[in-house]
Amino acid sequence: MAGLRKEKPFEDLRRTSQKLVARIKAEVKSKAEAKALRERGAIGPSKPDPIQELQIKGKKLVAKIQAEVKQAKIDDDARFLKNWFDKPLVTGAVSPSSKALARKMASYVDPESMGPVIELGPGTGPVTDALLARGIAEERLVLVEYNPEFCKLLAKRYPKATIVQGDAYALEATVAPHLKKPAAAVVSSLPLFTKPEKLRLALLNRAFALMTPGAPFIQFTYATVSPVPRKGADFEAHVSPRVWKNLPPACVWVYRRLQA
Ligand SMILES: C[S@@+](CC[C@H](N)C(=O)[O-])C[C@H]1O[C@@H](n2cnc3c(N)ncnc32)[C@H](O)[C@@H]1O
Repeated sequence: MAGLRKEKPFEDLRRTSQKLVARIKAEVKSKAEAKALRERGAIGPSKPDPIQELQIKGKKLVAKIQAEVKQAKIDDDARFLKNWFDKPLVTGAVSPSSKALARKMASYVDPESMGPVIELGPGTGPVTDALLARGIAEERLVLVEYNPEFCKLLAKRYPKATIVQGDAYALEATVAPHLKKPAAAVVSSLPLFTKPEKLRLALLNRAFALMTPGAPFIQFTYATVSPVPRKGADFEAHVSPRVWKNLPPACVWVYRRLQA
C-alpha cells in the first residue's frame, strides 16, 4: 500500500510533536527558574527567547500535520475512484461516504449493546471511524471487505479489528467462523441494487441469523425505495431522513426481525 494513507509519517509527526512539547515544557520551566534567579540578581540579562524559536518550529509542524491529513483524504478519494473505474458494480460509489452519512449509520448502533459489530463493505473505513467514534471498541469490529487493496488498508488502520476478505453475501462461510457471540448489529454499505432482490433478502435473513434478536441491520442507499423488498416481509423497516451532506444524498434503512 505504498504511497497511500501516510500512517508512517503520521507516527513520525506525532513523535516529533511530542518531543517538541516536552522541549517547550522544559524551556518554560528553565525560563521560570532563570527569571527567578535574575530577579534575585544571581544571573545577568536574558538571552534570545528559546520558547519563541520553539513556537515557530511548532507552527511549522502543525502546518505539516494539516497537509498530511489533507493528503490522506485525497488519497482515499483517489483510491476509491480508481477502484470504481476498475469495478464499478462492486465498488458501488465514486467516493467514500461523508462523515454525516457515516455518523447517521453509526447512530443506529447501541454502544451499550454486547457482542461483535459486523460491517459489510467498509471500503476505506469512513463508517468504521464513525462506529469507533460512537464508542464501539475496535476489538468488537468484524470488517468484511471483498477488495484486497481495501483489506490491506483496513488491517493497517484498524489493527485490533477482525478483517475478513471475502464475499459478504456468503455470511455463514465468511463471518460465522469469526463470531464467538451473536452480533449486536450489522452495518452494510454494500451496493445492494446490483444484486437480484432474492439475494438481498437472503443476505438480510443470513444477517438476522447471526445477530441477537431485535438487533439492527443498517443499510444506506442513494435510492428512494427500500433496498430490501418489503412485500410480505417478516421484519420491520425504518428509514432515516435523507442525509444531504453526502454525494449523492442518501438514506439509511434499519431492518429488525419481528419478534414472535
Ligand atoms: C459503496 S462502497 C462503501 C464503502 C464505505 N463503507 C463507505 O461508506 O465509503 C461499497 C464497498 O463494498 C465492497 N463490496 C462490494 N461487494 C462486496 C461483497 N460482495 N462482499 C464484501 N464487500 C463488498 C466494495 O469493495 C466497497 O468497498
